[in-house]
Amino acid sequence: MPKSKAWIKERKNEYYYKKAKAENYRSRATYKLSQTINKYHFIKYGDVVVDLGAAPGGWIQAARKVAGKKGFVLGVDLKPIEPFVQPYIRTIVADITETETINQIQSFLPRKADVVLSDMSPNISGVWEVDHAKQIDLATKALETAQKILRPDGTFFVKVFEGDLMNDFVKKLKQQFEEVKLIKPKASRAQSSEMYILALGFKAPENEINFQKTATHTN
Ligand SMILES: C[S@@+](CC[C@H](N)C(=O)[O-])C[C@H]1O[C@@H](n2cnc3c(N)ncnc32)[C@H](O)[C@@H]1O
Repeated sequence: MPKSKAWIKERKNEYYYKKAKAENYRSRATYKLSQTINKYHFIKYGDVVVDLGAAPGGWIQAARKVAGKKGFVLGVDLKPIEPFVQPYIRTIVADITETETINQIQSFLPRKADVVLSDMSPNISGVWEVDHAKQIDLATKALETAQKILRPDGTFFVKVFEGDLMNDFVKKLKQQFEEVKLIKPKASRAQSSEMYILALGFKAPENEINFQKTATHTN
């Protein structure tokens, strides 16, 4: 939906928008991730991080600040992301709803991911039920991707819009992760129905855990 002039003017005067410009971050969204990392410390130095719906790259900047040069950050989006100079940051143009995207992601990763992030949003139609359903669909796709690329005990951090479908999604997460928290970062507008879910301690399928144990024994 095209943004109105009033919307654009209001955004440009907004605190986090100005802060992001002043601090050279690519988006105000950067602060939603950095505030949550600062509180829950779920990205660590050396981590492999996959960021789904990463354009223009604000979350990549926040993640790489913590993961550092011993880590690796892969950003994925439908839109091209202006390249980063650091060799430990890669970006690809891909659609998470397409089945072949998972192979593309896996081909870039040095090992299983410690953290999978998703800030993916659909094009907003303005019809609340439609947007909520589309958002949960994208979050579900992000979860399916995370199931394939996360290491056992890894972390998943995902955006949703509040609504009746969210509860079922949270239930699904609770079956697959040790701990699930609902989060509204300060930088997320109070009037927006956007929420984030932090899912800690991925319960990887048995065969995956056995594979990892065997790999450690033979090393
Ligand atoms: C809110 S923006 C992400 C902002 C980003 N976290 C940042 O800090 O710069 C949401 C992104 O999700 C992407 N997206 C939506 N559907 C997608 C899909 N099916 N596959 C990949 N990316 C998608 C959009 O292209 C958009 O760039």
